[in-house]
Amino acid sequence: MTTSTKPRLLGISGSLRKASTNTAVLTALAEAVVDTASLEIFPLNNLPLYNQDIDVDPLPAAVTAFRAAVGAADGVVISSPEYNYGMSGVLKNALDWASRPYGKSNLTGKPVLTITVSAASTGGVRAQGQLNETLTAIAALVVLRPQSVIGSVFQKMKDGKFTDEASMTFLTAGIDDLLRDIAKTQAVIKQES
Ligand SMILES: Cc1cc2nc3c(=O)[nH]c(=O)nc-3n(C[C@H](O)[C@H](O)[C@H](O)COP(=O)(O)O)c2cc1C
Repeated sequence: MTTSTKPRLLGISGSLRKASTNTAVLTALAEAVVDTASLEIFPLNNLPLYNQDIDVDPLPAAVTAFRAAVGAADGVVISSPEYNYGMSGVLKNALDWASRPYGKSNLTGKPVLTITVSAASTGGVRAQGQLNETLTAIAALVVLRPQSVIGSVFQKMKDGKFTDEASMTFLTAGIDDLLRDIAKTQAVIKQES
């Protein structure tokens, strides 16, 4: 059990690749913000394909764990590759699981920072538009700020780590905005209770 009072952030990488640059960006962010927040990555490897027939009790264990991790987090940081102009299927599948039960999703009302990372110079910006739209369908609170898109990512990696200073400055400012939205949301919840 942790006694930390730092906000708890859940990191979700849209790539299952062992050497994923998206996961590397989340890992670099976790290290960069360690003094102000805890950021833990939930691996999506074990989530089954969404099927309404199995979205019933008893749920697949990986689904229960994923929904619980989303529920326990104060905020979420998602980083996705762009696959054929959209977010990865792996990520869309995870968001479909997280979106249910209908009307009771743990993502609803939860602040979320979205990032896309791509080998191309465009940085996955088209996937990010789609990702934000999906999060809007779930009524998650997407952090409103200039989009965090990391292009030409392989030039920004060294020894498997994401090392680009300018990008990290921009991304950590995004985390500051996320923490601000978390504080605002929690203040409203406190006021209403
Ligand atoms: C099936 C597939 C489709 C892709 N489509 C796009 C695309 O539409 N736009 C883009 O910028 N990159 C595209 N890419 C390249 C990815 O951006 C690149 O592989 C990225 O590094 C994947 O993220 P990862 O390192 O976290 O696995 C595609 C890659 C794959 C495997």
